[in-house]
Order: sequence, then C-alpha cells, then structure tokens
Amino acid sequence: MRLGLKTQILPADAVAVAKAAACLAEGGLVAFPTETVYGLGADATNADAIARLYEAKGRPLFNPLIATVGSFAAAQRIARFDATATALAQAFWPGPLTLVLPKTSSCAVADLATAGLDTVAVRLPIHGIARSILDAFGGPVVAPSANLSGHVSPTSAEHVASDLAGRIDLIIDGGPVAIGVESTIVGCFDKPVLLRPGGLPREAIERVLGQKLAGPSQDFSSETSQPLAPGMLASHYAPRTKMRIDATEVRAGETLLAFGPERVAGMEQALAVMNLSERADLNEAATHLFGYLRALDSKGASAIAVAPVPHHGLGEAINDRLRRAAIGHQ
Ligand code: TXA
Ligand code: MG
Repeated sequence: MRLGLKTQILPADAVAVAKAAACLAEGGLVAFPTETVYGLGADATNADAIARLYEAKGRPLFNPLIATVGSFAAAQRIARFDATATALAQAFWPGPLTLVLPKTSSCAVADLATAGLDTVAVRLPIHGIARSILDAFGGPVVAPSANLSGHVSPTSAEHVASDLAGRIDLIIDGGPVAIGVESTIVGCFDKPVLLRPGGLPREAIERVLGQKLAGPSQDFSSETSQPLAPGMLASHYAPRTKMRIDATEVRAGETLLAFGPERVAGMEQALAVMNLSERADLNEAATHLFGYLRALDSKGASAIAVAPVPHHGLGEAINDRLRRAAIGHQ
C-alpha cells in the first residue's frame, strides 16, 4: 500500500477539476463532493486503481462499488435498462438514486469493482463539481463514500481528510454537501427492490412506479436469499461510542443527539447536546446526521442517546443509519 502519500486538498474550481481528471487518468484516487456525501473516485476500468481504492478504504473486496457516470448514454454503455429502470432514470437522474442493473456485454467496469457480480450499481449525480470531473475524465468513475470502511460517510472535505489523508492523492473541497445521506439504491430485478434507503425518499419512487417498493429486509442480522446490497452490513455505519436509539431520557455520562423542539428528560446533564433539526425538518436532519455523529463520537461519553426520528421522507434513511450504528455495539 502506498501509505504516506501527500494528499493535496484543493478548493473546487476549474483548476481542481482538471487536476482531478488527470489524476484519475493516471490511476490516482480523488475524493470529490457529490450531493449526497463525498465520494472517493477511481477509474472504473483500471483494476490497479480499484485495488488501491479498496486498500485505502480498508474495504472488503466482496463489497462492490458504485460506478458513477456523467450521462444517461454513458450509463447505457455499462448497464441494461428495462422499462422500470428507464422510468426511474428519467424521473430522478441526475440525482441521489443508484440503480443496480445487469451489466452489458461490453461493460468496461473492472470485475474487481463489481465484486464479480453480473450486475452493476450505476449513479448519475447532480452535483456540479462531480459532473465536471466526470465530463473532464470522460469515463465511468467508481465512487464509494470517501471514508474508512466502517466509519460514517463524510459530508465535508474535513471528514474525508480525517479518514483518508496520506492514503489518497487528492481531495476536492466543495464545502458541506446538500443532502447528507448516501443515495437510495434500487435493484431492478423481476420487481424493483429498495436495497438501501437514502437521499431520495421511497415515497417519491413509489409515486413514479405506481406500486410499493419491496424491501429492504428489516432483519439486519440474518442472511437472506434476497440479492441485497452486500455493503449493508449491520454495523456498517458505526461510530466508536455505543448508541442508544429511540431514547426518551438521557442517562449519566451520555451525550444526546436530539431531534425537534421537544425537551428530553435529563438533557441538562448530557455531556453534549446536538440537535439534528430544532424545527423537526428531516431534510435538515439528514445534512447534520453524519457530522454530528462524528462530533459526539469524540466526547468520550458512555453512550450517545438518540431521540426518536419520524420514519417518513428522509427519516427512513436516517433511521436505517442510526439502527446500523446502534447494532454495531450489541
Ligand atoms: O450517495 C452515494 O451513493 C455515495 C456517493 C459518494 O456517490 N456512494 C456510496 O457508495 O454510498 P458506497 O460504496 O459507500 O455504497 C455503495 C453500496 C454498497 O452497500 C454496495 O454493497 C452496494 O452499493 N452495491 C454496489 N454494487 C452493487 C451491486 N451490483 N448489487 C448490489 N449492491 C451493490
Ligand atoms: Mg459507504
């Protein structure tokens, strides 16, 4: 592993975009902002670069990567779109939706990136800098979240640097992200399946499909026969500190991750309180979630007590990440 790399951090401008594209072309690793979370990019067709990416993140090789593309035409070169996939792409791309689809026979994405599966996860982001980098590079870019495997995803360039400085070549700093949780992943199989709740609410997808989406499995701990996203391990999003979700009171030695204007019993004795959204706005809460978890994780508390968060809209993704973070400590 090329540890001890000098990681350059550049403000997001035209010079940085050109450098990012050149670095990707040389097989380098470049972190860049997207609307959901920061991604760690590598040339999707370069197996060596992808091997370095897995190593830099400490990611298990069985966990496949999302291929990010700059246009629908580019997506169609790597993945086969049926009527459902086409409808979803037309409705929500560019944006925070990833589709898992059969690979085309000419799919140039390296097998290592798809962990040997015959499907590929494809995403067309809307973020201006991400789009510019994809356009300048001109090919598919694998872009998992730019964190060490097992940590929460980065929503700022500082988060990326704290996990990956010295392990990657370049970080493009585009400021805080707009959404704050990862893309929603839908598998277009015999019927569409929600593989990961995320930045596009389930309700919006169901409106376009005219039907309910199956999944994801609520049983985080057991294996299922469903082709679920292999990366959705129970403890995937765990901070180091124990988490106590749906907490209605704060106990001695705990910090509090609050939601909404209501007071939580015992909150005056909390080591620290951070409120995901005083005004109970789930979109605002998503933008704060990972940053606040990182901040509360550094307080040396016995646990992070987490107030209940409603389950509609982005609440489904927020609750999914919170449950995984809590399960990591059971
Ligand atoms: O918002 C996002 O999607 C961010 C930004 C950076 O684009 N990326 C992201 O990537 O969250 P990552 O690698 O952290 O999560 C990708 C998820 C993993 O759970 C992985 O197992 C799943 O997608 N995945 C990738 N390819 C798959 C496939 N062929 N079938 C099922 N799941 C797949
Ligand atoms: Mg990730």
